[in-house]
Amino acid sequence: MDAQFWDEMYRSRPQVFSGDPNAVLVAEATGLPPGRALDVGCGEGSDALWLARHGWHVTAVDISETALRRAAARDVTDRVTWARADPTSTPPPAGAFDLVSVQYFPLARRPDHAALRALLDAVAPGGTLLFATHDPADLSPRPEQGFDPADYYRPDDIARLLDDDWTVLINETRPRTTPPPSGTHHTRDAVLRARRLR
Ligand SMILES: C[S@@+](CC[C@H](N)C(=O)[O-])C[C@H]1O[C@@H](n2cnc3c(N)ncnc32)[C@H](O)[C@@H]1O
Repeated sequence: MDAQFWDEMYRSRPQVFSGDPNAVLVAEATGLPPGRALDVGCGEGSDALWLARHGWHVTAVDISETALRRAAARDVTDRVTWARADPTSTPPPAGAFDLVSVQYFPLARRPDHAALRALLDAVAPGGTLLFATHDPADLSPRPEQGFDPADYYRPDDIARLLDDDWTVLINETRPRTTPPPSGTHHTRDAVLRARRLR
């Protein structure tokens, strides 16, 4: 699932996602004091735009030019920086964000956890990591696309890797409150919300 895969996915339809922010983001970020946010794999931009409308200054990154173009075209705020970037190969700046939001982003497991650690490092002391995936029980391997859900971090894996600098506020699987993305049958989300203490 490289840049070409994602770009072709977006080009296959004029709009892939609903246009609404993810329910997990809205549920968990409502009430957080706005600051600087990193939206990892921002897609068509609904989460970044919701955060911006709620006072956040957002860096929204994606590997797909098509998705970013679509997202930027919807932007009537002056609070989002849209950037083509792969945070798994180019680490975001350390300690720079009060919220790092990772919503349904395919973060591949690595023995050294380098990319994951870079995302954790990007959270400022006092800041929040919000990581949501589809419930692994809803996901099946798709060998034709080289996709095996076991290759990707789940919230539980991340919770286990957090050290004493962190407190886990939520690590749970919950029913989706919105319809599944078109063409899928996802019914539940796995959600990790953790706060960096220092
Ligand atoms: C399942 S979509 C989720 C999009 C958005 N977060 C949402 O929930 O609507 C995953 C997104 O991650 C992006 N992506 C995948 N691998 C990436 C990578 N290595 N670096 C940056 N973006 C990536 C894809 O282009 C896609 O937009």
